[in-house]
Amino acid sequence: MANRPTYILGISCFYHDAAAALVRDGIIIAAAQEERFSRKKHDFGFPAGAVEFCLRHGGITASDLAVVVFYDKPLLKFERILETYLAYAPRGLRSFLMAMPLWLKEKLWIPSLIREALAYDGPLLFTEHHEAHAASAFFPSPFQRAAILTMDGVGEWATTSYGTGEGNRITLLGELHFPHSPGLLYSAFTYFTGFKVNSAEYKVMGLAPFGEPKHVNTIYEHLIDLKEDGSFKMNMEYFDYCAGLTMTGPGFAELFGGPPRQPESPLTQREMDLACSLQVVTEEIMLRMARHVHRETGEKQLVLAGGVALNCVGNGRILREGPFDDLWIQPAAGDAGGALGAALFAWYSYYDNPRTAPGGKDAQQASFLGPEFSDNEIEEILKKYDAVYRRIDRQEMPAHVAGLIAAEKVIGWFQGRMEFGPRALGARSIIGDARSPAMQSVMNLKIKFRESFRPFAPSVLAEKVSTCFALDHASPYMLLVAPVRHELQIPMTGEQDRLFGIDKLNVARSTIPAVTHVDYSARIQTVEREDHPLYYDTIKAFEERTGCPVIINTSFNVRGEPIVCRPEEAYRCFMRTEMDYLVIGSFVLNKAEQPSLKEEGDWKKEFALD
Ligand SMILES: [Fe+2]
Repeated sequence: MANRPTYILGISCFYHDAAAALVRDGIIIAAAQEERFSRKKHDFGFPAGAVEFCLRHGGITASDLAVVVFYDKPLLKFERILETYLAYAPRGLRSFLMAMPLWLKEKLWIPSLIREALAYDGPLLFTEHHEAHAASAFFPSPFQRAAILTMDGVGEWATTSYGTGEGNRITLLGELHFPHSPGLLYSAFTYFTGFKVNSAEYKVMGLAPFGEPKHVNTIYEHLIDLKEDGSFKMNMEYFDYCAGLTMTGPGFAELFGGPPRQPESPLTQREMDLACSLQVVTEEIMLRMARHVHRETGEKQLVLAGGVALNCVGNGRILREGPFDDLWIQPAAGDAGGALGAALFAWYSYYDNPRTAPGGKDAQQASFLGPEFSDNEIEEILKKYDAVYRRIDRQEMPAHVAGLIAAEKVIGWFQGRMEFGPRALGARSIIGDARSPAMQSVMNLKIKFRESFRPFAPSVLAEKVSTCFALDHASPYMLLVAPVRHELQIPMTGEQDRLFGIDKLNVARSTIPAVTHVDYSARIQTVEREDHPLYYDTIKAFEERTGCPVIINTSFNVRGEPIVCRPEEAYRCFMRTEMDYLVIGSFVLNKAEQPSLKEEGDWKKEFALD
């Protein structure tokens, strides 16, 4: 009898971004975040929908699993929360009491919860939080050996860890401990500048180029004591996350000229200067850590994970300024990726299976690891809505869609397996013409329902990346920021330079203005044909038509909504917004021809859009 394959299910939940991942004999079969199924952004509850999808996609039931692996150690984390409380007691009693019911009800009972939810009585394993991040960074990477650096808010105790990966082994060599944390430092400023913690850190990064680094010295003098090796201690007099209910305390507000910005109130120069200063400090921490890890390990390649690895401006600098020869970043760098890391950790480290790195290409499969839908399934949904559509041949599709993009149409694009990780990479995307100066505001206001200071990200043909950007490296997961090439830049006049906020962004500053930030940078996705042939061919057809190998790629959702997962969500999002066309499987829908969408309830309320 042939050997039965070994299926391992990884789970992350109960903190942020719940997810599940299925690995068969070391190969990643499926991975998805729970928010895409529950339709609750950053859902951290038990990932029942994601687990169900993973098992279904693998064609198995829970009884076929060799082991289920959870991405952190609940008891260790509980110990950290208890000890933190005791260290600050009696201050912090309120936040402690608020956290306790969930711990007593759910978190301490994770093993029995998992067994019950899955109807599973096989073995359960628990990795440490940073082990799971490290495994998610190293095992899918193209490298046989590499230095590993993981940076995030906090798991059990560790907030940063580094070590090495070789073959099937991960060795962690050092850690930075709570409350000193690069992720929590970033989150504190995210809170103070009026954005949502654990969710909108990327907005602070996007805001940074509008500001001046005025507060860098204040941060070094008062908030953190940064060492040459990148480790640091935070002055907890200014932060309130150990004992209070907010991230920052009154001292923080005194340092930076008044209380935190109220969410949704107008942004001012203060927030921009704070974002800029924080970004400067964060990049310095990342670069110092990278140099330290390089010195300590002697490795030539570096892999990254943890929420801070979503700081693609910092990543871009690590790549450009070294000292590593090469870099790979887990696209699901946040806690969702912990599910994948936990499963891979079990296969390689626990079961001790050999690993030969794929070399060249990584084993993440372009992160297209979520559900996909056949034309039959899609057509059934379209019929349900009486949608008007026409079928277009695969061969004709790229040129057809390229024509629509060139005519400045905004297109909902739903093709193949959904992305694992926070970025849309050409499976659940909204696409448009990067050359169009109007596209930036049209897409923000009419489609995403936000007035954004952030430009969109470009998808570029991989072989053309260095003709448009100062980047000579693959960036398939949109995790590297690099400048738009000088030849494409349009210098600003003095008057334009003095503009503020959105007005400044509305000045075309390159021949691809919709994807160029105010500092001439872009958050780049390189597209290779073998990863997504239809997406690649469409950009190629656009290039043949216009000479431009770049299009806009933004996620297929409106503000506050998780990225669409199923055809039904795609159709509804298309109909609720002013998107012009929907290209879904083999079908093309023109908005002008659609019957109006009958809605139950107020969908804008559902996503907190008024
Ligand atoms: Fe984490």
